[in-house]
Amino acid sequence: MLDLLITHASLPDGRSNVSIAVQNGKITQISEGPISGAQARETVDAAGCLLSPPFVDPHFHMDATLSYGLPRVNESGTLLEGIALWGELKPLLTAEALIERALTYCDWAVARGLLAIRSHVDTSDASLLAVDALLEVKKRVAPYIDLQLVAFPQDGVLRTKDGVDNLKRALDKGVDVVGGIPHFERTMADGAASVKLLCEIAAERGLLVDMHCDESDDPLSRHIETLSFEAQRLGLQGRVSGSHCTSMHSMDNYYVSKLLPLIAESGVSVIANPLINITLQGRHDTYPKRRGMTRVPELMAAGVNVAFGNDCVMDPWYGMGSADLLEVAHMGLHVAQMTSQKGIRQCFEAVTTNAAKVMHLKGYGLEVGCDASFVLLQARDPAEAIRLRANRLKVWKKGVLLAETPEVATKLNTAGRPERVTFQIGKAGA
Ligand code: FE2
Repeated sequence: MLDLLITHASLPDGRSNVSIAVQNGKITQISEGPISGAQARETVDAAGCLLSPPFVDPHFHMDATLSYGLPRVNESGTLLEGIALWGELKPLLTAEALIERALTYCDWAVARGLLAIRSHVDTSDASLLAVDALLEVKKRVAPYIDLQLVAFPQDGVLRTKDGVDNLKRALDKGVDVVGGIPHFERTMADGAASVKLLCEIAAERGLLVDMHCDESDDPLSRHIETLSFEAQRLGLQGRVSGSHCTSMHSMDNYYVSKLLPLIAESGVSVIANPLINITLQGRHDTYPKRRGMTRVPELMAAGVNVAFGNDCVMDPWYGMGSADLLEVAHMGLHVAQMTSQKGIRQCFEAVTTNAAKVMHLKGYGLEVGCDASFVLLQARDPAEAIRLRANRLKVWKKGVLLAETPEVATKLNTAGRPERVTFQIGKAGA
């Protein structure tokens, strides 16, 4: 007897009418068509809807989330005012309030089918209050969210007194990944030195690396080059990510033609954050205003693993957001002009499989032996899911149902027309 049988599902790779058998939290069988003789304690008829592995956010700041307006809002909308505002908020933080906000965000995430999050946590303050708080959150949400923490020296690891020591103490406490912010160090030379130092710390400790890298419109901010070089030098291929990399938007094309193969050879992943990049970058421009997002299709074409992150939800940098990675993919698609069928699929992968690769998630995917963790969307395929920021009908983690949202349909009073509208092709009035 199976624990769960899902029938008539459509999968992101285009397979349709798929049955999936679940036992002990794992996928035990996948079949196009019915699984003969299968009996299950519970059967869910997906009715042609899209069954995807859960959404994965490879870049977030859970220590700052849901703090919008504390102690004031960011009037200029710039990255630098956001950092200054976070500096004003930090002395006011309490562990209890931070944990409560983070847990609320994790509830939102589950409702949206977002079951794995990589969150940076600020290590600049010697008290490591935010680190301890998020380690507690990680423990509490472990049954339903894979929360991976990055030691992030927000004020600059070299620029801050005891910055290196504080970061190492955070890693000693159990923070998973080494972070950095080279473009915020005092000089280009210090930025490059910080990249080298932090990659060496990661190599010594056998940890992954994820740096905020070149989050700037300055075309001469080239720390992604040093990060890629250090990944190669230290044998960290496949274990390093560069987050944001917005300066690449403004770089000289000849230089980029030399840079892309270096990133690809180094196995460095790039994480764009479309919602934040389109709002924070280009703030010093008059017109035309740059979009600021990194060169996503060009990186993908060069063989680089590119993922999309949420970065911020209702915090000193961004007052919008709702833990919806389809909203992130939707913005990424527009900013990068990835409107071809292939491009749309790639945007869906950027918030699912590519992001899972960044986080080195084990058991992720829709194959026999993978975790039975899914989100059932009120959409037929990835394009419709992104177009509609589709309703999450059901969310499972290792075979356990975590969240449900009723099917969304509007009732009309228009004489002679269908009574219900769902905005799905072929489903209106069904
Ligand atoms: Fe960030």
